[in-house]
Amino acid sequence: MLYDFDKHIERRGTDCLKYDGLYQMLGRSDVKPLWVADMDFETPPFVIRTIEKRLRQRVLGYTVPTDRFYQAIISWMKRRHSVSLEPQDIHFVAGIVPGIHHALNALTEKGDKVLIQPPVYHPFAHLIEVNERTRVDNPLHIVNGRYEMDFDDLEKKLPGCKMMILCNPHNPGGTVWTADVLERVAKLCHRYGVTVLSDEIHSDMAHRGHTYTPFVNCCPEAREISLAMNAPSKAFNMPGIVVSYCYSLSPSIRERYFTFLDRADVALGNIFAYDCLAACYSEEGEEWLNQMLDYVTENCKIVIDFLRQQCPRIRPMLPENSFLLFLDNSDMPFTTTTEMHDFYLNKSGLYLNEGEMFGKEGEKFMRLNVALPRAELDDVLHQLKQSYDEIVAS
Ligand SMILES: Cc1ncc(COP(=O)(O)O)c(C=O)c1O
Repeated sequence: MLYDFDKHIERRGTDCLKYDGLYQMLGRSDVKPLWVADMDFETPPFVIRTIEKRLRQRVLGYTVPTDRFYQAIISWMKRRHSVSLEPQDIHFVAGIVPGIHHALNALTEKGDKVLIQPPVYHPFAHLIEVNERTRVDNPLHIVNGRYEMDFDDLEKKLPGCKMMILCNPHNPGGTVWTADVLERVAKLCHRYGVTVLSDEIHSDMAHRGHTYTPFVNCCPEAREISLAMNAPSKAFNMPGIVVSYCYSLSPSIRERYFTFLDRADVALGNIFAYDCLAACYSEEGEEWLNQMLDYVTENCKIVIDFLRQQCPRIRPMLPENSFLLFLDNSDMPFTTTTEMHDFYLNKSGLYLNEGEMFGKEGEKFMRLNVALPRAELDDVLHQLKQSYDEIVAS
């Protein structure tokens, strides 16, 4: 079956964060939302059918994860990513951000040092701060249009840390960490007794030619020290369902974290969550995912080619994963970040994520979500080009 990603879906008026939430924030409906990481494509029909089937059962009672849920994860992780799991290695979590919050509480103490690699998905820093842990930054560096880790700095900063939160693959840079890089991280963290929480929510969206390595698979040391978080919600465009899970091959991490989740009763799924995951982690799901990835990879390519030819002073990082492009504006004639934000929002009529939300290292960047129909993407590029010409020519 061929899925139609060109189809316009009217999302305004559906209470969605991307459009209606933006209206609440800005009081404006004249800007194109290209920010929060969900897609302007239809959620796959097999997910919708699964929900419809549940609704026909007429009673929406408490629902538990059954073997179907665990076996769907086990089979997917084996087929797609060569990870071998048993049901007891896995626990449902109701959202990865809440899952990280609970992991900080279960596995670290107030005041403990937790390392992150900015610019990175902003809730990492926020959760460390609100939980009164001490944030340690190991900033990433751009080399030839992609992020690289600074291992000298990492080795200096890891001693004394309790946890490292890794974004694998990386958001907002779209970097797929290689097995070698992950192995170096794992060996260092193992040496210094640091638990690695690997957020792998972007793992199913590596572009062709790039291979995502699950952290747990990079070397034997990684198995002993890591907790991975994953979900089909991002890749299958259903974050509103709230279905995620974690897994660990370390009995000690499982004992501390899973017990914490169970005691606090904070990891229960809604009636649709378990089945929706199983629907995605199927052969039909694989087919949809491959087609979606082809479409968004082509969108990335269109944007990159367009910028190179028409707006060469906006330089995208080279995406290896997902549908997010991190745009470097250092060569643009902005004297302040306020001017940059004004250019995108007011002069171009586009709402992107401001790079500095991912850390000060991102302050000259804007994050563009390209998961939208191609005709709409063309309009976006046209709008950008007009304001670019005005500001660069002036
Ligand atoms: C790296 C990363 N982790 C987690 C999330 C959100 O996960 P959840 O909606 O399950 O809390 C996102 C959403 O964009 C993300 O990019």
